[in-house]
Amino acid sequence: MDHFLYRDGHLMAEDVAISHIAAAVGTPFYVYSAATLTRHYRLFSEALSPLPHQVCFAIKSLSNLAVLKLLGDLGAGMDVVSGGEYLRAKAAGVPGERIVFSGVGKTRDEMKLALTGGIRQFNVESEPELRALSEVAQSLGATAPITLRVNPDVDAKTHEKIATGKKENKFGIPISRARAIYAQAASLPGLQVVGIDVHIGSQLTDLAPFEAAFTKIAELTEALRADGHTISRLDLGGGLGIPYTRSNEAPPLPFDYGALIKRTLGHLGCEIEIEPGRLISGNSGLLVSQVIYVKEGEDRTFLIVDAAMNDLVRPSMYGAHHDIIPVTEPAPATPTQDYDVVGPVCETGDTFAKARALPHLAEGDLVAFRSAGAYGAVMASEYNTRPLVPEVLVQADHFAVIRARPSFDEILARDNIPEWL
Ligand code: LLP
Repeated sequence: MDHFLYRDGHLMAEDVAISHIAAAVGTPFYVYSAATLTRHYRLFSEALSPLPHQVCFAIKSLSNLAVLKLLGDLGAGMDVVSGGEYLRAKAAGVPGERIVFSGVGKTRDEMKLALTGGIRQFNVESEPELRALSEVAQSLGATAPITLRVNPDVDAKTHEKIATGKKENKFGIPISRARAIYAQAASLPGLQVVGIDVHIGSQLTDLAPFEAAFTKIAELTEALRADGHTISRLDLGGGLGIPYTRSNEAPPLPFDYGALIKRTLGHLGCEIEIEPGRLISGNSGLLVSQVIYVKEGEDRTFLIVDAAMNDLVRPSMYGAHHDIIPVTEPAPATPTQDYDVVGPVCETGDTFAKARALPHLAEGDLVAFRSAGAYGAVMASEYNTRPLVPEVLVQADHFAVIRARPSFDEILARDNIPEWL
């Protein structure tokens, strides 16, 4: 459920008309619903209760400071994967004790930043990373709380570019070597083992791969405890998928996911951490765009809109589907026609949808790409010197621009022509 519904023929974000925001901000822009973000966060927290738990929002999916402040104020922790993301979480007021640091390539500078500023735990992904973290912690006279991310060799049955739990993927330590690497971690100074981490992929629409992974984690918890390690936290990563179409697609709900966690891991007495991104942010956001031209091709009609692959790269990068809806509600039984929906970027890959059935649209009409809150704005670029797309947050009947569109002067001023040219 989200809060983008038609009212009196107009698409609304909560109680604000999208057309009203478009008139104030210009297009294209992202718009997020505070009520939807809040609802999705709470669904996870409720699904895990009464187990002790911490929901750490994967801020790679949507990292605007206003969104992080909103979620942080509800009690969310944050999963970060870079020094920059760590600084975002802190700038949004999230305390270090609620921040977990993931990623295969943490640098020593990033480790230092997090150890100095406060961190709940590092999710360590390799032996060289263990040694580096041990050295950095010792040099600071600090102790780094760690889990080891275990690669359980489970097929997440999702798009190959976002599956992370198979042995051929770069992530985690092989589960077959986990006991030896935990022993190594325990012997290194400056590290304190607190638990186990696992994340098998993103946009999972079936609970079976989670079940396979969590079952292996339960066994590993017992084995590591028998070896003398303290395993008090289990970080289960993110990955629960969302419906990208409004047809009959019905991925499992956070409630079902929570029930699975309780069934497979609840008896271990651990604090459960999860790192959902997409399910919290994905259906909390739209990308709004305006039709520039309707162009008749040889055998098709192109809808040329003012958003492009640089603003929302998912269709071009993963062949992802995003529903596209008109901002003015079509009358019931309005006939549709097929459009290839494309942006202005000079690549054929700049195609959002092929032969998409939409009601008749004309120059100047507004359309919205649904499910664009996750991995939308954060993956945007200024390719073709198109200004970074702005972001807007709606709460009830008011909205704020939470990232402004840069001016061309600002964009050009970032470059430097050396004096010797
Ligand atoms: N934790 C870790 C360690 C992750 O690598 C990820 C996502 C998450 C949590 C959050 O997963 P989620 O709940 O959002 O599925 N750009 C791609 C998705 C990349 C996901 C990367 N890791 C897309 O647009 O589909």
